[in-house]
Amino acid sequence: MVSLFKFRIIFVADKTFAYPMLILLKHPLLTHKLSQLRKKETTTKEFRETMEEIAGLMAYEVTNDLPLKNVIVETPLAKLQTRELDADIVLVPVLRAGLGMVDGITRLIPSARIGHIGIYRDHKTLEPLTYYTKFPGNLADALVMVLDPMLATGGSSGAAIQVLKENGARIIKLVCVVGAPEGVRKIEHDHPDVQIYLASLDEKLDDNGYILPGLGDAGDRLFGTS
Ligand code: PRP
Ligand code: URA
Repeated sequence: MVSLFKFRIIFVADKTFAYPMLILLKHPLLTHKLSQLRKKETTTKEFRETMEEIAGLMAYEVTNDLPLKNVIVETPLAKLQTRELDADIVLVPVLRAGLGMVDGITRLIPSARIGHIGIYRDHKTLEPLTYYTKFPGNLADALVMVLDPMLATGGSSGAAIQVLKENGARIIKLVCVVGAPEGVRKIEHDHPDVQIYLASLDEKLDDNGYILPGLGDAGDRLFGTS
């Protein structure tokens, strides 16, 4: 009989040897849904729904080391000691596209608080410009999950992480869907304490800083703009 444990290792760990802080999530459901997301004919509605599902599946892995506390609960038949989550969780979507990942995660973790950070890339220089921040007060004690579907040059995610650290965050995980090697290298260099999660490490950036093969402009596909 084939061991389930063996499958888990094969699906979850891949290519990570080159990038010490990268965890590449390779669950078949995730890979399948990412393929739907990439297709150019995927509609805005389908794109939104699939992005939410992907975020939920990723959150399942990203939270697999959360602490638990002992609690006593009473079933209709008996009392037992069991365990519940013992962690503050803060989600910080990078506007705009990170917003598409929030609902898929809050469905699983309804107690999560949500901060917002508005950043866009200057189209010519590709430098990130921060235009809005609003965070809950418990950043220092929380697991902070930065959400952005695209890790291209790494400028936007890196800027978001820097602002969060300046506001007290200590435990930060970066959750992106598709990444380029350039972006992973930048985050590992600038923020070596931050674990990075991706559903795919794509090949490279094109001349305009878009991920190849990628999925196009995530914000535009999510919100139906162009
Ligand atoms: C996109 C994307 C990321 C960023 C990634 O945002 O959602 O935030 O680019 O690129 P980087 O790693 O090179 O910084 P964009 O600047 O298009 O802003 P928008 O979502 O508001 O359209
Ligand atoms: N931002 C996107 O939305 N897509 C890319 O490929 C790169 C940056």
